[in-house]
Amino acid sequence: MWLFVLVLLSPVTTVTAVTGCHSDRDKDDRPRQNCTAAGFSSIPAGIERSTKVLLFPRNLFTSLSWSSFQVFEAIYEIDLTDNKVPEVTPRVSPTLPTLSVLRLGWNRLKSLPADSFSACPALTELYLDNNNIESLSNHTFSGLSKLEILELSSNRIKLLPELMLHPLPAIETLFLESNKIKVMPDNWFEKKEEVPYLYLSINPWACSCSLSYFHQYLGDHELNFYVRDGPNIRSDAESVVCDSPPFLKDNSTFGGRAQDRWVKRLAHFHISSLMEFCCDVNYCLPKTRNNHAGSVGHTIDNSHDSRQHLTHDPRTCSS
Ligand SMILES: *[C@@H]1O[C@H](CO)[C@@H](O)[C@H](O)[C@H]1NC(C)=O
Ligand SMILES: *[C@@H]1O[C@H](CO)[C@@H](O)[C@H](O)[C@H]1NC(C)=O
Ligand SMILES: *[C@@H]1O[C@H](CO)[C@@H](O)[C@H](O)[C@H]1NC(C)=O
Repeated sequence: MWLFVLVLLSPVTTVTAVTGCHSDRDKDDRPRQNCTAAGFSSIPAGIERSTKVLLFPRNLFTSLSWSSFQVFEAIYEIDLTDNKVPEVTPRVSPTLPTLSVLRLGWNRLKSLPADSFSACPALTELYLDNNNIESLSNHTFSGLSKLEILELSSNRIKLLPELMLHPLPAIETLFLESNKIKVMPDNWFEKKEEVPYLYLSINPWACSCSLSYFHQYLGDHELNFYVRDGPNIRSDAESVVCDSPPFLKDNSTFGGRAQDRWVKRLAHFHISSLMEFCCDVNYCLPKTRNNHAGSVGHTIDNSHDSRQHLTHDPRTCSS
């Protein structure tokens, strides 16, 4: 009986060492195990130690244990897209020193504490989109000095930590669309001014003075702002859109004068074409680009006393 089973299985075993997986090579000829949608909740036994690419998308992993991947001494890529991983365990020691690509999109991550990825200091690409990430720390990405692509779109990020980009001197592509970001900290890009691909659309940007650093940055680096539609990308600085102050949306604020030239322009909600809003205790006023500090109060259209209209709306002075 056992002999019969062995005979029956042996031709299969020579092709696929592990049931549910198949081995091949990636485009750069790295040995790869593809275990897509095979129902695994941990790494199955029997995978060659020389494997460099491990694909487990659409499986049932509920945790990510760095050390369980250590047997693959030359591991290059781990794909855990669409699993059920709720957290990553911070580790300061470099457990996976060769890992370059980590895919954790479509999992259940909620927060990423300091040193979340210090276990893999050679990462060049990190995919964390479509999770429930609400909070990041200044040191979440500590140790990732080679990271070029950081994918954080479709999460619930509200605050960009001031120092978040500091550990990332090699960053080239930053995906942050579809989050809940209102404000960018001043000097956020100070460690690496030039980031060639920035995706910051679909966030509720609050366009007041607190965003003036970002406004300036956007003006200086317009061509680095992109949107994407599947694999197609295009440069679009106007993709960064103001969600507030609320009067931008409210036609009645201006006593029905929303058709006025400058009001209409503001109502496009594009920061790039928008003037900064500056508020003091009593009123908020749009400030034109060539208006220097101290001369707040001028608007493009001097024929209307817009200051009064704005003064009448205390909602606009919240920031
Ligand atoms: C992995 O295998 C699945 C089918 O099992 C296939 O659809 C997918 O394209 C493969 N992935 C790669 C990166 O080749
Ligand atoms: C990041 O560091 C700055 C400066 O030390 C600090 O003010 C801020 O609260 C920190 N932010 C987070 C989210 O930890
Ligand atoms: C404001 O007025 C414009 C032009 O009449 C109209 O298209 C737009 O929908 C109005 N916006 C709101 C929020 O009512």
